[in-house]
Amino acid sequence: MNLVVVSNRVSRGKPSEPMTGGLAAALLPIVEKSGAIWVGSSGRVRDGNQKEPFAEIEALGAGALAMLDLPAAHYGGYYEGFANSALWPALHSRPDLIRASQEDYHSYREVNAFMARALLRFRKSDSAFWIQDYHFLALGAELRALGVAQPVGFFLHTPWPTRAVISGVPNHRELIEAMLAYDLIGFQTEEDCENFRACVQSDLGLAAHGGIVRSHHGRTRLSVFPIGIDPQQFAQLASKASTHPEVSRLRRSLNGEKLAIGVDRLDYSKGLVNRIKAFDRMWSLHPSLARAASLLQIATPSRGAIEAYGNLQSEVAKLVSDVNGRHGEVDWTPIRYLNKGYGQAVLAGLYRTAQVGVVTPMQDGMNLVAKEYVAAQSPADPGVLVLSKFAGAANELDAALLVNPHDIDGMARTIAVALSMPLTERRMRWEAMMDKLRSGTVQQWFADFTDALWDSRLDREPAEAVIAESPALAPLRSVNTGAARYH
Ligand code: F6P
Repeated sequence: MNLVVVSNRVSRGKPSEPMTGGLAAALLPIVEKSGAIWVGSSGRVRDGNQKEPFAEIEALGAGALAMLDLPAAHYGGYYEGFANSALWPALHSRPDLIRASQEDYHSYREVNAFMARALLRFRKSDSAFWIQDYHFLALGAELRALGVAQPVGFFLHTPWPTRAVISGVPNHRELIEAMLAYDLIGFQTEEDCENFRACVQSDLGLAAHGGIVRSHHGRTRLSVFPIGIDPQQFAQLASKASTHPEVSRLRRSLNGEKLAIGVDRLDYSKGLVNRIKAFDRMWSLHPSLARAASLLQIATPSRGAIEAYGNLQSEVAKLVSDVNGRHGEVDWTPIRYLNKGYGQAVLAGLYRTAQVGVVTPMQDGMNLVAKEYVAAQSPADPGVLVLSKFAGAANELDAALLVNPHDIDGMARTIAVALSMPLTERRMRWEAMMDKLRSGTVQQWFADFTDALWDSRLDREPAEAVIAESPALAPLRSVNTGAARYH
């Protein structure tokens, strides 16, 4: 199989390259080893009529990386608009933050169609396409409209919310219908898969039998593939990183003080405000922990042009400054707050230095920081993971200290417990979590998905009759089914 992997953000594989998200870090080793072609955005835009998409292509291990300049006229409406101001808040159950317009939806579909045309260049008879994430919900339908008959799969890195929440996204029915052009749709958790199945049933009137939905596109398999990391490689990175200047400087600055670490994109789904309030509460409830334990919070800015992100940046900065002002001393800063990104080589060392990892999103597809924190620990003296029960990772890492990110008092108490947990309990919990990481590696995720993609295509057959049976699809058929309107 000649695999073409597609995602909005890509990684060039430089160890010092700051990583702003789990997806790019996860896909990198897979592309490097499997020899796949990875196609994504160059981060640049290009004016004019993009009949011939411009791609910069370079080698990436045994594979290749093709970076496309996306169309200037539609980039804002696609990325800041529909993808990150309509879909992202909905997928993270924040319907109050949904901002959507038909112009943005049009741009989103245009960029999906543009990407489909660009992918034709990489198509071979034995190709399979694996599309990643919410930026490209309609890409499968666009590929089918161009006559692509090869296997096309999709993996959603975010949660899929309840029907009530997703229905706050304009054109959601049309998008869900377009998604059925995929042979296989993968989710992080059973709950996401079940929510999607319920949407297909209620919005389109189509039932899933044995995880398979039949539509006029053919059969679509819905399945769960929790994404992992390479724990062995991450552990090696962490032990090597101890001599990294930035890691040594952090260690020297601690003077025996304990450290908790949080590493997130600056995003409202990550629970930064409640986390900082929890530390504030902890230092108030346990004054003995002042000077004895501090927080290093790395919050990498992203999507800064979107109002909700700008507001969050100001809110978090103000809160950190307020907490530092109240609890700080002339020679002690409770929260070190950094608005920049770090490469994985440094992050691995920072994780290993911290006695507690705090990963407390309000909602998260998986959260690979949680997995990386665990893998980075020293087996002889591991740190403790404090993990939100609303992160996909909590399904596997149930030996972490699980918290409710809405409960600030509860988080404050749990972080204090983590900071003083005895070695035997830390080791027991850590071993249990490492067992899970070893049995669910990113390599396994890749193999499971691509095997299932291949199998699902083998038994795919068009089921033209099904659409006729479904009254819920009638309005869609007359307005727009799949990609037709955009060509
Ligand atoms: O699953 C969500 C995701 O694709 C992550 O991999 C990453 O955290 C984020 O979204 C990417 O954000 P952006 O590319 O907009 O900075």
